[in-house]
Amino acid sequence: MKTMMMSLICFMCYGKWNFKSAYNTIYQGQEKSALFKEIVKTVFKDEFPEDADTLSFLTMSDLNRLTGILALKKGEQLADIACGRGGPGMWVARKTGAAVRGVDISEEAVAAATRRIPDFGLERKAEFGIGSFYATGLETHGCDGIMSVDALWLAPDRNRALREISRVLKPGGRFAFTTWDGNIPFMPDDHKKNLEDSGFDIEVYEETRGWKERQLAVYEGIINAKAMLEKEMGKRLAAPIIKEAKSTPPVLDKSRRIIVGARKRQYR
Ligand SMILES: C[S@@+](CC[C@H](N)C(=O)[O-])C[C@H]1O[C@@H](n2cnc3c(N)ncnc32)[C@H](O)[C@@H]1O
Repeated sequence: MKTMMMSLICFMCYGKWNFKSAYNTIYQGQEKSALFKEIVKTVFKDEFPEDADTLSFLTMSDLNRLTGILALKKGEQLADIACGRGGPGMWVARKTGAAVRGVDISEEAVAAATRRIPDFGLERKAEFGIGSFYATGLETHGCDGIMSVDALWLAPDRNRALREISRVLKPGGRFAFTTWDGNIPFMPDDHKKNLEDSGFDIEVYEETRGWKERQLAVYEGIINAKAMLEKEMGKRLAAPIIKEAKSTPPVLDKSRRIIVGARKRQYR
């Protein structure tokens, strides 16, 4: 039932059943559009994470909080799952002196992230490849910390994703992420039980401040700028973000955007 609902929501949001193809289109559009970034920047003001330049609702406060939760030391290894164009993981790596490996299902995202490595001065410390929440392709116990921004909701089999994250994480390492929870069909009410059952102790579980106003304002900006976005990106590339802007607001009524920090237990 949950899988069916998830597919239905995917269909409503993207008009297709395939996230990989939808995100490839979105990233092609984002690369062409200065206006899309301007819309987000206007809403986020000083919370806009300029360097990270994300495809998410990540704020500067979130970035600093994720960095604090991960508590990485210089030379340690970070992974960013569903890394998109690589900004969040590279921002944290640059700030902490850690190395980062990012994985994403979208080839467009991985190619863009790889191109951006020199922007962060991480030529020998950042690497990106194709991988998913269920099969990251990363080494067992190879990471001191794992992060993920606004993407865990895209892995409907939450326990399977958390098992993979636990496999890759060293005992005692932290998984820090933002996503949504709430009383809507394809998400668990909260992620606490899934995390605990997968061998994590929860250290932080908080709603992010001001998220809903920002998210709705970005959607409103997109709808108001529809014609200009279509002109800039082309109708085909603009279609997925316009569709998301129209279809997501009602879903948010029963949802919360959260930031979570969970530590993998030493022994299971
Ligand atoms: C909202 S974007 C966030 C991207 C990035 N974290 C950021 O903040 O810019 C969601 C990302 O999840 C990726 N994605 C979707 N399903 C995935 C899966 N099952 N495993 C890994 N990545 C996935 C998409 O390709 C997309 O890059």
